[in-house]
Amino acid sequence: MRVSSFVAVALLQASGFAFAAPSLESRGAKASRRPNHAVAPFHSGKAFPASSNRTKTCTVKSSGNGTDDSPAILKAIDDCNDGGHVVFGAGEKYTIGTALDLTHLKHIDLDIQGTLQFSNDTTYWQSHSFNQTFQNATTFFQLGGEDVNVYGGGTIDGNGQVWYDLYAANIYVLRPILFGTIGLKGGSISDLNLRYSPQWYNFVANSSDVVFSNITIAGGSVSKNPAKNTDGWDTYRSSNIVIQNSHIDNGDDCVSFKPNSTDIVVQNLVCNGSHGISVGSLGQYLGEVDNVKNVYVYNISMSNASDGARIKVWPGISSALSGDLQGGGGLGAVSNITYDTMVLDNVDYAIEITQCYGQKNITLCNEHPANLTISDITIKHFTGTTSDTYDPLIGYLVCSSEKVCSNIEIEDIQVLSPSGTNEFACGSIAGIEQEVNCTAVS
Ligand SMILES: *[C@@H]1O[C@H](CO)[C@@H](O)[C@H](O)[C@H]1NC(C)=O
Ligand SMILES: *[C@@H]1O[C@H](CO)[C@@H](O)[C@H](O)[C@H]1NC(C)=O
Ligand SMILES: *[C@@H]1O[C@H](CO)[C@@H](O)[C@H](O)[C@H]1NC(C)=O
Ligand SMILES: *[C@@H]1O[C@H](CO)[C@@H](O)[C@H](O)[C@H]1NC(C)=O
Ligand SMILES: *[C@@H]1O[C@H](CO)[C@@H](O)[C@H](O)[C@H]1NC(C)=O
Ligand SMILES: *[C@@H]1O[C@H](CO)[C@@H](O)[C@H](O)[C@H]1NC(C)=O
Ligand SMILES: *[C@@H]1O[C@H](CO)[C@@H](O)[C@H](O)[C@H]1NC(C)=O
Ligand SMILES: *[C@@H]1O[C@H](CO)[C@@H](O)[C@H](O)[C@H]1NC(C)=O
Ligand SMILES: *[C@@H]1O[C@H](CO)[C@@H](O)[C@H](O)[C@H]1NC(C)=O
Ligand SMILES: *[C@@H]1O[C@H](CO)[C@@H](O)[C@H](O)[C@H]1NC(C)=O
Ligand SMILES: *[C@@H]1O[C@H](CO)[C@@H](O)[C@H](O)[C@H]1NC(C)=O
Ligand SMILES: *[C@@H]1O[C@H](CO)[C@@H](O)[C@H](O)[C@H]1NC(C)=O
Repeated sequence: MRVSSFVAVALLQASGFAFAAPSLESRGAKASRRPNHAVAPFHSGKAFPASSNRTKTCTVKSSGNGTDDSPAILKAIDDCNDGGHVVFGAGEKYTIGTALDLTHLKHIDLDIQGTLQFSNDTTYWQSHSFNQTFQNATTFFQLGGEDVNVYGGGTIDGNGQVWYDLYAANIYVLRPILFGTIGLKGGSISDLNLRYSPQWYNFVANSSDVVFSNITIAGGSVSKNPAKNTDGWDTYRSSNIVIQNSHIDNGDDCVSFKPNSTDIVVQNLVCNGSHGISVGSLGQYLGEVDNVKNVYVYNISMSNASDGARIKVWPGISSALSGDLQGGGGLGAVSNITYDTMVLDNVDYAIEITQCYGQKNITLCNEHPANLTISDITIKHFTGTTSDTYDPLIGYLVCSSEKVCSNIEIEDIQVLSPSGTNEFACGSIAGIEQEVNCTAVS
């Protein structure tokens, strides 16, 4: 067994050399083997399409002096699209100063062993980043198509500092998202280091059958201006997405499920400094339908965060949380969501469910129940401690009416506040007093 698999490895490496680009360009650049990270232990139940073998290698040479390497990158991708393997060599530093539309990719592997860094020309990026419409999101590039694998052990660096400082001066500056997975059907993104994103690290939209595995996310500000809104992943209009085996150091949601995220598995993550694993916010836009269904979140380590598990829904009437955050009155459903096994350390609320997002007056919220229902939620096997922020409370479970919130099962929550309590603020959830120790809210 061992000997034959050794032979197979050797053959694969040999075939990589056989298809290498001309010697001048391929010097020092060796194709990586495509990793094969199993989706485990949970699975959405939907199959992933097989990825074909690549039969050609294209190597991208960097200028190495900070000049925009985008023309060479685009050329290699064009040369190798539909069946090839593009290598960004180890130890090389590539500068990207052009917004790259990569939504036409097909049967291609991007093997990023070196570092890709986006230029710090904020004027250029504000007018050329891709507008994704949802929440004014823009992305440095957009990667989509079918059967695309991105891996290699390298780094993608958003050069965020200049953006953190710019945002502090003007909150309406549109900061690009580092990695835009837009309209990808089938693929994997793995073994990469994502650094210094100007805002969210990953936006996954209009995509299906995509696995993210073994990603590290980190990068803060060195000035007095914090790196804000640095969500790890936001999924939107996407299904059968797996996010697993990754380490996230950030300052906003670790993973967030935005409207129309279905059949999602998130497992084996270490999240530090985040706002938790969040559904929503949903129901922000009057009359629009937002659904989040069939989500399984398993085995998360959550430290120094505002929340562990969180579900945020706006009430049935408009309200304003702040100048650039207002809404309510949307329709839809959050259903079949499971959070199973989370270890907490210094987290403000272990669990937070609200159907009064953006509305502090609970009486007013209850007068206008959400038109977006929450049902079939299971939250189980949580251990650890909360922070002293809400002590004696360890969580918040408040719907706008029992009629629009059903079958919320909370079990085996072995979490204590620093003072040793395990109280939840509870409101408008039938039977919740039998599941946790409640303090009524009004
Ligand atoms: C792909 O490559 C692997 C390893 O070389 C080989 O076992 C397999 O048969 C190939 N698949 C196809 C469809 O060519
Ligand atoms: C950077 O390197 C490229 C290719 O190696 C060269 O064409 C270009 O003139 C160099 N630019 C500067 C500013 O040194
Ligand atoms: C932008 O990057 C260039 C080259 O790396 C550097 O010389 C310059 O100081 C940077 N500008 C800002 C505003 O950070
Ligand atoms: C995206 O929208 C912004 C603000 O409306 C605009 O300045 C920019 O040119 C747009 N970008 C593209 C690529 O259309
Ligand atoms: C997704 O697809 C829809 C429908 O084709 C399109 O309107 C939208 O701009 C696409 N992108 C995003 C981010 O929603
Ligand atoms: C999007 O940008 C516009 C123009 O700056 C602003 O009025 C609006 O509030 C922004 N929307 C969101 C959701 O941030
Ligand atoms: C994860 O990716 C790194 C490179 O970023 C690699 O060194 C490591 O072996 C990968 N881990 C696994 C389990 O594949
Ligand atoms: C979400 O799905 C619902 C039901 O299919 C649809 O009505 C709605 O327009 C979708 N919303 C978005 C943002 O795509
Ligand atoms: C609920 O979601 C899980 C995945 O988390 C899925 O396996 C199951 O089939 C879903 N149940 C229903 C009734 O759709
Ligand atoms: C909360 O809303 C209720 C019902 O509309 C109203 O009577 C009450 O004055 C409000 N409380 C505050 C503090 O605004
Ligand atoms: C929203 O819910 C309210 C009751 O809370 C109901 O009167 C109203 O008809 C609903 N709106 C829609 C569009 O379903
Ligand atoms: C409620 O608190 C008591 C006293 O700390 C504890 O024994 C009990 O297990 C708690 N109930 C639940 C459901 O956590």
